[in-house]
Amino acid sequence: MRGRGWEPWEPGLKLPLPGLPRVIAHRGASAAAPENTLAAFRSAAERGAGMVELDARLARDGVPVVIHDSTLDRTTDGRGRVLATDSGRIALLDAGAWFDPRFRGERVPTLEAALDLLARLGLAVNVELKADAGEERRTGAEVARLVARVWPADGPPVLLSSFAEEALAAARREVPELPRGLLRERAGPDWREAMERLACTTLHLGREHLDEATLRALRREAVPVLVYTVNDPAEARRLFEHGVRAVFSDVPEAIAPVAPPLPHAWS
Ligand code: G3P
Ligand code: CA
Repeated sequence: MRGRGWEPWEPGLKLPLPGLPRVIAHRGASAAAPENTLAAFRSAAERGAGMVELDARLARDGVPVVIHDSTLDRTTDGRGRVLATDSGRIALLDAGAWFDPRFRGERVPTLEAALDLLARLGLAVNVELKADAGEERRTGAEVARLVARVWPADGPPVLLSSFAEEALAAARREVPELPRGLLRERAGPDWREAMERLACTTLHLGREHLDEATLRALRREAVPVLVYTVNDPAEARRLFEHGVRAVFSDVPEAIAPVAPPLPHAWS
């Protein structure tokens, strides 16, 4: 990760991003297993993915846990806000049965447990910083500190990202060398200014609002664009043809066959 090829983007600078695959398993292999669980990360590895995306937010005691929503309601058998619940209580909840009874007993992993598994599986990781309003700075700082402490220095790439620019700024202050991705539903008129201000390496955009003119402009400036969430192979093929560097997918095994090979020096 850190080191040559993962520097912050500059206009026209073509970053090789060694170790970044074409397909990133979104919340793990989340069509096959309950999202953001260790089962979903193992399933991603079994399906040949080289990288997973996960969502990290703080529990009440400040421990980063891996869960998408701000509440426990949708993906566990608990209720209430993650931020109002201690990590020890969250660890007791079931995070698998809602998806399929076969996954009963899956837990909401701590970020530390998730990173430990991913490093052992040799998977790269994109940690998305999720924060309730007012918690952005603390989340960015805590997560960056944890990643820097536990992720092996010689491990696969690790990339932080967030919709919350304050969280990215705090992560940068805490551990400047961790690469950052600016995450937006649409690029917006100020994407260049925001990338430079936050010293971001990658730009992560939603597929729904992405038009060809934007893709052409980003390609001209050699911005590494990562698009979420792409589950249709034909759409993925079109995006790759327009210069998109990688896509996030719930079905990584369905997208991998249409992904163009990376230049040898980039893989
Ligand atoms: O990081 C890309 C994507 O995961 C952002 O949207 O809602 O799935 O976290 P969401
Ligand atoms: Ca996410």
